[in-house]
Amino acid sequence: MKEKLEQIKVNAVNALKNTLDAAQLENLRVKYLGKKGELTLVSKGMGGLTQEERPIIGKLVNEVRAFIEENLEKLSEEIKKREKTSKLKDEIIDISMPGKKQKLGHKHPLEMTLDSIKDIFISMGFEITEGPEVELDYYNFEALNIPKNHPARGEQDTFYINDNIVLRTQTSNMQIRTMEKEKPPIRIISPGKVYRADAVDATHSPIFYQIEGLVVDKGITMADLRGTLDIFAKKLYGDKVKTKFRPHHFPFTEPSAEMDASCFSCGGEGCKMCKGSGWIELLGCGMVHPQVLRNCGIDPEVYSGFAFGFGLDRMTLMKYGIDDIRLLYESDIRFLNQF
Ligand code: DAH
Repeated sequence: MKEKLEQIKVNAVNALKNTLDAAQLENLRVKYLGKKGELTLVSKGMGGLTQEERPIIGKLVNEVRAFIEENLEKLSEEIKKREKTSKLKDEIIDISMPGKKQKLGHKHPLEMTLDSIKDIFISMGFEITEGPEVELDYYNFEALNIPKNHPARGEQDTFYINDNIVLRTQTSNMQIRTMEKEKPPIRIISPGKVYRADAVDATHSPIFYQIEGLVVDKGITMADLRGTLDIFAKKLYGDKVKTKFRPHHFPFTEPSAEMDASCFSCGGEGCKMCKGSGWIELLGCGMVHPQVLRNCGIDPEVYSGFAFGFGLDRMTLMKYGIDDIRLLYESDIRFLNQF
């Protein structure tokens, strides 16, 4: 039995030498010290020993057990340490490695032009409002002096949801909506999408953007309109830009005009951009029609106002010298990256 115990001890030491991880170590513990382990079996076999032998062997069993336990414990500590070191090594972060480059996008050219325009009008005390694109016929046409069968409806054919609901053809609906809600003094611009039953080409799109402007107060005159819009053109296209007003007709303004700006490409001499005329048509405008004021419950004897409206797309094309509106809607990254 003594030899058997010696053998167990030697075997255990050898086995420990080849043990690399916690799982193997646990197997060894079971093999030697477990309920059915080798050492336990020896203890159980002690019944057959003589009175003298028993304490001697018993002591030896305990010594071998203590020896194995101690070595298991030592190795367990070592394995834990080793595993920790290798884990730390695996998780090392090389802070000198170059990071992944974050590619930041930027605003769309339409949005950039809109931002500049908003800044200009905000600096003159205007507020920004937005309104519905799916609109009642009343706000888009009727209240703006464009009754059913009015010829202006022909130019502004649109998508009808039903007889009374349209996709708005102009941001002018916001004149009515604003005056219904707010009492003068009013100073707003209202940008947004508008829709027309137009086929796509270099200058037309069935969806495009407009910006509407409206000022209503006591004593507002054509001089206020001209001054405001002249400053706007100069701030957007440069101090040298001159403006002129041509008589025109819009059903909801009286008198009405179109404003041209001297060509910011050639300075007025005539070039491809202004088609040789030296002038570029910028916007429609006029004094708010008394009937439109009345439609909104504002007394035209007390108040007057001016309104204007223009296409954001056109302004953007001209600002950046782009010659095809489709480029603004195609999301071609090669185009957009140039801004
Ligand atoms: N809504 C007009 C259009 O789409 C543009 C316009 C002209 C707006 C004159 C106005 C204005 O506010 O006074 O053609």
